[in-house]
Amino acid sequence: MVRDTTVLLDERRIFEPSEEIKKRANVKDWEAEIEKGKNVEKYWAEKAEQFEWFKKWDQVVDESNKPFYKWFVGGKINLTYNAVDRWIKTEKRNQVAILYINERGEEEKITYYELFVQVNKLANALKNLGVKKGDTVSTYMPMCPELLIALLACIKIGAVHSVIYSGLSVGAFVERINDAKAKVLFTADGTYRRGKIIDLKPIADEAILQCPTVETIIVVNHTGTPIEISELSGREIFYDRLLDGEPSYCEPEQMDAEDPLFLLYTSGSTGKPKGVMHTTAGYMVGAATTLRDVFDIHSDDLWWCTGDIGWITGHSYVLYGPLLLGTTTVVYEGAPDYPDPGVWWKIVEKYGVTKFYTAPTAIRHLMRFGTRYTNLYNLDSLRILGTVGEPINPEAWMWYYKNVGKERCPIMDTWWQTETGMHLISPLPVAPLKPGSATRALPGIEADVVDEDGNPVPEGKGGYLVIKKPWPGMFRTLYKDEQRYKDAYWNEFPGCIYKAGDMVRQDEDGYFWIQGRSDDVLKIAGHRIGSAEVESAFVGHPAVAEAAVIGKSDPIKGEVIKAFIIVKEGYELKTQLIEDLKKHVRYELGPVAVLGEIVQVDKLPKTRSGKIMRRILRAQEMGEDLGDTSTLEE
Ligand code: WT7
Repeated sequence: MVRDTTVLLDERRIFEPSEEIKKRANVKDWEAEIEKGKNVEKYWAEKAEQFEWFKKWDQVVDESNKPFYKWFVGGKINLTYNAVDRWIKTEKRNQVAILYINERGEEEKITYYELFVQVNKLANALKNLGVKKGDTVSTYMPMCPELLIALLACIKIGAVHSVIYSGLSVGAFVERINDAKAKVLFTADGTYRRGKIIDLKPIADEAILQCPTVETIIVVNHTGTPIEISELSGREIFYDRLLDGEPSYCEPEQMDAEDPLFLLYTSGSTGKPKGVMHTTAGYMVGAATTLRDVFDIHSDDLWWCTGDIGWITGHSYVLYGPLLLGTTTVVYEGAPDYPDPGVWWKIVEKYGVTKFYTAPTAIRHLMRFGTRYTNLYNLDSLRILGTVGEPINPEAWMWYYKNVGKERCPIMDTWWQTETGMHLISPLPVAPLKPGSATRALPGIEADVVDEDGNPVPEGKGGYLVIKKPWPGMFRTLYKDEQRYKDAYWNEFPGCIYKAGDMVRQDEDGYFWIQGRSDDVLKIAGHRIGSAEVESAFVGHPAVAEAAVIGKSDPIKGEVIKAFIIVKEGYELKTQLIEDLKKHVRYELGPVAVLGEIVQVDKLPKTRSGKIMRRILRAQEMGEDLGDTSTLEE
């Protein structure tokens, strides 16, 4: 039995929303909204009314060919039209749509009207290059306005984009471009990172030699690094030059609700990345609705999601969600700790950010610097905070709550995935919160916990997280791999329910406690225990900065825990501390958490998005090949 990791913390209490939060909230009654969401079709149809449709849908959801669900069947719509064109007819016309800031302190403000002109010009230019509805366009770009403009322009003309995260290497790049058969590539000279310029163009140049489908490469001169014309091959053109002379209006393509919108590659349990495919109308409804309701977006908000557009978080909550709501979205290029670990809080103060959304790994990183930087700046503008990407350990939650949110701001712990396109499990601002829990399924979503055979498990017992009804923002397939789509997600349990790939437990209030990926869950003497849970326990110890755990085979118990620990400054992993840690973890998790070995390390293998790659540790441990390391930070 997995025990509650928070049970022994002083902070094991429920955090109720303040009167101010309740007064402002778009959704005032959590229970009533969840109740409303039980009529799935009616609920999502109402949410779809927020957009301008060229033609309304005939059917909300078509379940006749499971698991190939269809949403808003028969509807015609264009995302870019709704995210940009729609607003220039309103008082938002001159409002800032994109507030770009970088680590050098430079900023660029782009209003909805300016965005409209740029997107239209680029859309026309893409058409001139021969890009047609259904063609794929890839990007390998830093976080800069041109990236957002490129994606919006693709969608305006019905082209399908496939963003490659700028931190990926040549191999991953080639694989993604060739799988998607991209016709056009957007890239840039480089990106700012910790006081340096990281070159992107040379990587693109090398990779593109192996990408025969790419006809045109559009180059943004982002950092101003000189690129000689002679360095450009015949198929390259500068972004600026491309826009010159283009008309500033382009008719939006009337897309079928189920026309492909974008591809986004993500890692699965096998080496080959999965081409997650999202389609048009359902994704729009999902991203916009969840952003508005979970973060309670109003017209006076300044929204900042620190995620990179190279990941789904950036797609849904840096770009599409915010613009579909007509809000201002902050686009930040740089690291959280450069020039110093106060850089984010300085931005919050300077611009008056009201809603701030980041990853637990970033919070834990900044936590190491104590309260010096959070106290240096005035963070009073903040109203709601959020986290995403992995379970947040209660210590990090409390630090964020106390020092960033000053005990005023509720924290939205949002559980979702590249595949889900939108938040599925998350509180609303009026919900009572428990640190470390993403609380309950959002209205309109039905989540559950099942055992290996797909049977519901009793309260408090760990199991597989499943989603039992389709949701609008869901992916529709894995690109050119319907079989893998069915096998990896839908065929595991009877009744065609979605297997999320996470282990989870529900408490007495129905709150979900995500324990980590099911492939990273250990089995110790028949007991299940999540690696993330054990790590959270370790990190709860004052000597531990970071921890990663894997299963180590044990002749008697099957598996025991091997822990890799980064200790905080001033500590050393000696016999006494090892004993303390064993006690601490046992104290936090119970005797099921059998510690086989604890070793001290300087660094942990992490993806560039900050997730610990336990697979690498496991492979190392077994003396095996490391497999696909393309997403490894270093
Ligand atoms: C996996 C999906 C969704 C954007 C970023 C990650 C983990 C995500 C949470 C959360 C616990 C979380 C899950 C999930 N995850 N959010 N709030 N609490 N775990 O997207 O790369 O597709 O990863 O991230 O394990 O399955 P992704």
